[in-house]
Amino acid sequence: MLSAFVAALPFAGVPTLRPARPQPLRPVARWRLRPLLWLGLAWLAALAGPARSEPAGVEVFHWWVTGGERASMDAIRDFTRQRGLAWKEDFSPGSGTARYTDVLAARVRAGRVPTAAQMIGYEIHEWARRGLLENLNDVAAREEWDEVVPNEIQQLSKWQGQWVAAPFNAHSTNWLWVNQSLARRLGAATPPDTWDDLIALLDQARAAGIQPLAIGKEAWEHTLLFESVAAGTGGAAFYRRAFLDLDPTALDAPVTTVIFERMRQLARYLDAGFMRRRWDQATDLVAGGQALLQVQGSWVDGEFKVRGLRPGRDYQCWRFPDTQGMYLFNSDQFVFFKQPARQRAAQERFASILMDPDLQVAVNVRTGAAPARVDVQQAPFNRCGQGAITDLRGANMRRTLMGSIAMGNAHPSAVKAAVYDVVTRHLQGRLDTPGAVAALRAAIARKP
Ligand code: GAL
Repeated sequence: MLSAFVAALPFAGVPTLRPARPQPLRPVARWRLRPLLWLGLAWLAALAGPARSEPAGVEVFHWWVTGGERASMDAIRDFTRQRGLAWKEDFSPGSGTARYTDVLAARVRAGRVPTAAQMIGYEIHEWARRGLLENLNDVAAREEWDEVVPNEIQQLSKWQGQWVAAPFNAHSTNWLWVNQSLARRLGAATPPDTWDDLIALLDQARAAGIQPLAIGKEAWEHTLLFESVAAGTGGAAFYRRAFLDLDPTALDAPVTTVIFERMRQLARYLDAGFMRRRWDQATDLVAGGQALLQVQGSWVDGEFKVRGLRPGRDYQCWRFPDTQGMYLFNSDQFVFFKQPARQRAAQERFASILMDPDLQVAVNVRTGAAPARVDVQQAPFNRCGQGAITDLRGANMRRTLMGSIAMGNAHPSAVKAAVYDVVTRHLQGRLDTPGAVAALRAAIARKP
């Protein structure tokens, strides 16, 4: 018995996931300082916990708390239970993931290690590097995940070539979510095709006494706006070189200045109260006809859905101008913590459930995202979802499927945090454009 537990301990004879070499410490993650000590404590607590009579099941940890998110998690829960696994959950809000990550880390330190936790982007690698995550290669090989998940997403789901996360959606962030009756009032029947068209639309709204652009207070939301502007202004090759390859010379181009000038231009359409609301409250403004549009990820579609709204009738999903053909993705995934061997079967089962095409449809018709698999049926989705699925497949073929900066899918968290800082200070008028260009160059030069 003991040997089974010892075999399951991180760093202790894990067969396929090679223990990571010690990594240099980074200031953003002070809680990494005593990993071995708290890992040891966590595992002692796990060993002491209730054991044999427990039904096979999972305990998941996530951050889905808004209306659309809750409805989506309910779909995962129901599907999991129908497949015979007991379900327990705990959550902590925090879409930008900083607070969520702190709470998850505190739980793990205290020995309350969940079976699986929601995670996005490079944070998956940061947990895997510490040897905490279970290897999913067997189930991935059996079910041929390599064949159905786009490569760019796989790169985040894998650590050192091994599957360590199960991706169950592919949101995209380069969208305008537009209130339909306000658009009709302004005579805007078709999407703004170019930057100038967008500015003309926002001007028209302002002249008609309509709040043009809704946004919330958090840096990740400001960075969502920034990434659409950057992709639309600089194009896919620029975006890839600057934000995925982290080549600081990419930012020498005059286009970087234009990107920040455009951000400054957009700032003029924000209301005075934007630093006091959350992203979903900004969504409420659009849903309720108090603002024309919001630039946000496809989770807004899920929020509209729980409010009984329908695309085409009540709102429009239009691609951010000049980013048509690009898909800036944010893939929600679950990672699986190393657990005593008796939990292993339930973990594998849950990973398999998450990757089931039927689950990926059931969840994502609620969430508003495209499934992470490219082989699902489009018919059950609304027109925004169907558009997203088509766009994902097209972008995947053309190398324009690129990770979202704001959601940590483009580069490691230390770089993301530095970009947040530049973008939010500039948007709030606390940094001028030349200062922002210089600070952004320094941010992306912070290679891990
Ligand atoms: C993201 C998450 C999305 C959505 C969004 C807003 O981090 O991946 O699924 O929940 O936050 O909360």
